Amino acid sequence: MTSRRYYLPAFVVVVITLHFLLWQRYGGQDLMKHIPELNIPFRPNINATLPTTTELASLIQPEPEPPRRANATFVFLCKNDELGKVLTSIQQMEDRFNKKYQYPWVLLNDKPFTKQFKKRVRAMTDAPIEFGVIKREHWIQPDWIDEDRALKGRIRLLSQGIIYAASIPYRNMCRFNSGFFFHHELLQPYRYYWRVEPGVKFFCDIDYDPFVYMEEHDKVYGFTLSLHEWEPTIRTLWDAVKEFTSANPQYLSANNSMEYLSDDGGNTYNLCHFWSNFEIADMDFWRGEAYQRFFDFLESKGGFYYERWGDAPVHSIAAALFARKDQVHFFRDIGYRHEPFQHCPSGDDWVKGRCACDPRDSFDYTGASCIRNYERMFKHAGVSAT
Ligand SMILES: *[C@@H]1O[C@H](CO)[C@@H](O)[C@H](O)[C@H]1NC(C)=O
Ligand SMILES: *[C@@H]1O[C@H](CO)[C@@H](O)[C@H](O)[C@H]1NC(C)=O
Ligand SMILES: *[C@@H]1O[C@H](CO)[C@@H](O)[C@H](O)[C@H]1NC(C)=O
Repeated sequence: MTSRRYYLPAFVVVVITLHFLLWQRYGGQDLMKHIPELNIPFRPNINATLPTTTELASLIQPEPEPPRRANATFVFLCKNDELGKVLTSIQQMEDRFNKKYQYPWVLLNDKPFTKQFKKRVRAMTDAPIEFGVIKREHWIQPDWIDEDRALKGRIRLLSQGIIYAASIPYRNMCRFNSGFFFHHELLQPYRYYWRVEPGVKFFCDIDYDPFVYMEEHDKVYGFTLSLHEWEPTIRTLWDAVKEFTSANPQYLSANNSMEYLSDDGGNTYNLCHFWSNFEIADMDFWRGEAYQRFFDFLESKGGFYYERWGDAPVHSIAAALFARKDQVHFFRDIGYRHEPFQHCPSGDDWVKGRCACDPRDSFDYTGASCIRNYERMFKHAGVSAT
């Protein structure tokens, strides 16, 4: 195709060049009269004068092929008054990764974004960007929740000094991220997403495409930080999980990550979860039957409001139980901070990513981290962690 396409223009170029050279030499006299003097046969051997097609191809540089992209987008839940922190997060993601890849951004809010907000955010990137409003029924506390009971739950957590103990918007956000964001109309065109939050930091250059990595390696869920949940926020979550899985054993993966979640074969929850403010994951997994039924079951328990079930343990438990353990990926090469914790890559990953963080300042092997639980699953199986 390429060689044929260039053959005709090349021929024309050669003819014009010959014409020009002869014209110069003979000052515009009748060329045909002088052709014998030039020892050029009347019917010149065209084969000899034409450059070969490979020579031509090397002269005319084709546009480099754009890198293959995955079916993916960034998802950013944020509010108008977070503009400054939204801009720093987007700027870092663009500089460290997305300026080369141009993945779209989808920003979601429970209230409409202001004109000023949209204008400032648009200035941060050349990638497509969309601003969406969240449906009321995906956000607010449902009417069937017993508000007296919910209030008692909030007061209990408050008395225990738990973060966001009494916040209803925080609970709305956890429920939205658990069960609804992937149903938002602006996210329907996409399969994979990378969750970004206001005021986070990305320390390293990302010189490959993590979305394509997910796609090519059949990954479902990717994380960088893993830690223990506050027990009072999920007091009855594990009971609900056990009730669901014993009624629906067909959804459990044969090679699941129960070992990551439980130190006694599933009887009790060890509180380990992936910190979901960073996620690179597959929305079709959340949209699938297993997760949809799981979420509906949890929703029916009311724990998002009676306790303070987080989307992090909910996502993590589902990914750990309904996917194969090799489908859950530790992005150890992505340096990331969400206050007050950070993951800083080490060794070759740190060098390759030119990471602007101290590898000794990393949450991974501190007491509150669950990375060891994740890694031991692969040590037992005799393979290294993916
Ligand atoms: C040019 O090359 C073609 C095929 O290679 C050949 O058939 C043809 O005779 C050649 N023409 C001249 C003028 O040498
Ligand atoms: C991307 O993924 C979504 C969700 O699976 C799907 O509906 C859509 O058709 C996909 N788009 C392309 C271009 O493959
Ligand atoms: C589980 O993993 C083992 C070892 O990797 C493999 O041999 C087996 O086929 C897997 N089972 C399923 C159901 O994927």
